This record gives sequence, structure tokens and C-alpha cells, in this order.
Amino acid sequence: ESLYVGVDLGGTAIKVGLCNSAGELIRTFEGPTQAADGTDAVLSNIASYVKELVPSGTPDWEAVAGVGIGIAGFLNIPEGIIDFSPNLPFRDVPAKKIMEEKIGKPVKINNDANVAALGEAWGGAGKGVANCVCYTLGTGVGGGIILNDRLIEGFSGMAGELGHMSIVADLEAIQCGCGKMGCLETVSSATGIIRMAKDAVARGDRTTLSLVEGELTAKDVFDAAKTGDEAAQRIVARAAFYLGKSMAAVAVVVNPQRFILGGGVSKAGEFLFAQIREVFDKLTPDSARKGVEIVAAELGNNAGVVGAAGLFLRA
Ligand code: BGC
Ligand code: NA
Ligand code: ZN
Repeated sequence: ESLYVGVDLGGTAIKVGLCNSAGELIRTFEGPTQAADGTDAVLSNIASYVKELVPSGTPDWEAVAGVGIGIAGFLNIPEGIIDFSPNLPFRDVPAKKIMEEKIGKPVKINNDANVAALGEAWGGAGKGVANCVCYTLGTGVGGGIILNDRLIEGFSGMAGELGHMSIVADLEAIQCGCGKMGCLETVSSATGIIRMAKDAVARGDRTTLSLVEGELTAKDVFDAAKTGDEAAQRIVARAAFYLGKSMAAVAVVVNPQRFILGGGVSKAGEFLFAQIREVFDKLTPDSARKGVEIVAAELGNNAGVVGAAGLFLRA
């Protein structure tokens, strides 16, 4: 039986997993990304974690038929190149070729949120739903679009880069890590939420949030909002507003049945989801809104690894 390796390359951690041909996860291994050390270091880390997972020379290694890698960033999928990554050091990297040389097995690369969407579609919150759109809310905002059971990659691989939908009104727009103004990611990622919280504190808004006690996290902002802190509530409302507004746009473009929200920020749960639904319902024409669900991702941390292995299994 053939085996497949899936790699989830994130900003802080690289997770690798071994799957059988039924797409079941056999075991995983995880190590630091070490993005600050640069492209070569990150790619070498992937190769060494894969070898930790499946040591060369073992029967399992012989059985590995391919390695799928999900990468945060703008990919030219047909050419196997990372064009640019807003939150990682990659610029114009022929990742597929480099990784095939390092690993010695066929490699497929795809976007991290795309593979998470595939994972959810196969075995998570999108199971049995032919048309769904996933958002991953973490360091960045990722997206994955599945229509008629197929992942949509677009002309060069940029389809589903929902975090870089330019959506914030001109006067309030700030520059994104991608260089453009007003991207969804600037307000609805964990990074964006933390930035808005720091701004609120720096402005002297009345708030229980403070910058002195260690690093402020997005969870701190949600916790404060849940306990009535009005400055924190405004930040959450803003993050939710732009998510809901972007979904209203997506709804009339591709008409999904289900929106699936994953990533750290989605752990805020119903408190966040209710606000997103309210905006979505207000802005979306009934015919694109009726029967459409906004739900939480189910696979959590493993969606990326399973989806990446599946690039070989289900292609
Ligand atoms: C990147 C996407 C990625 C997302 C989540 C964004 O900044 O542009 O490619 O999917 O972050 O990691
Ligand atoms: Na994507
Ligand atoms: Zn952007």
C-alpha cells in the first residue's frame, strides 16, 4: 500500500503527517519553522521533519508515493513556485523543485488555506457539501474555495486569497503585508486584532486591555470583549463586520452553501460567529443567503496535513 506525507507550513510551526491511501492519519511530527533564518533554513527544516516522521531506508519510506505541502503565501501552483508570502520570508522560490531535490520523492505544493479547505471538505465541516468556502483566521487570513467538489485555483493559483480582498473603506485602510491597502487581513487576522488593540491602548481609549502584562493576544481581546470591555467589543465588531462583508461579496460571486471558519481566531466561537452572521444577513441578497450556513472548522490542527497529503490522493 502507498503512503503519503502531508506538510503544513505555517508562520511559527511546521507540522508533518503520514497518511495511508484512505487519507487516514497514521502519525505526525512537529517542529519550529524558524522563518527568521530565511528561505533555505525553512525548506531544510521541512525536509528534516519529514525524515523524522519517516526515516529513510524504512519500509514506510519506500512506500511513500508523494509529499504534499501547504504553504502560506501567493503560489504559482502550476509552476510550483512561491511568488511571495506576506508573512514568511519567501520571494520567488521554486519550492516544488527544491523540495523534490531535498526529499527525493514527488512533491506537490499548494496554498495552506486551500489544503485546509480540502481537508475540511473530505473529512470535516464540509463533508458532503459540494460548494463551500473556508476562511482560516490566524497570523494571516487565508481562503479556500471548493465548487462542485473541486478546489478552485484560478489562472495562476491566486484564487481564494480572501485575506487580500481589498475591502476596508479608503479613509480607514492601512497597508497590508502584501503591500496593498485595505486588505481583509489587516482587520480580521489575529495580527490585525492585536494591532487594533494596541492602537486603542496607545490612543488612551478606556479599556481593561493593557500592553504591560506580557504580549497581548487576540484571545485577550475576545475575552475582554466578552466581559463587557467596550473598546475590545468595537475591535471584535470591526473584525466581524469585514468578515461578514467579504462573505456577502463571496456569496454573490460563487454562491457557496457553507462558509467554514478555522484558525485560532475562530476559537472565539459563537460570540464571533453571531456577529459575522448578522452582517452577512444584512448585506447578502436573500437568494444568495437562504440556506447558507456559517460554521466552525472541525479538523482543527490536522486539516492542513490531511489536505496536503490528499493533494496526491484525491487529485
Ligand atoms: C496569505 C495566504 C495564507 C494566509 C493564511 C495570508 O497572508 O496570503 O496565502 O493562506 O495568510 O496563512
Ligand atoms: Na487560498
Ligand atoms: Zn494584502
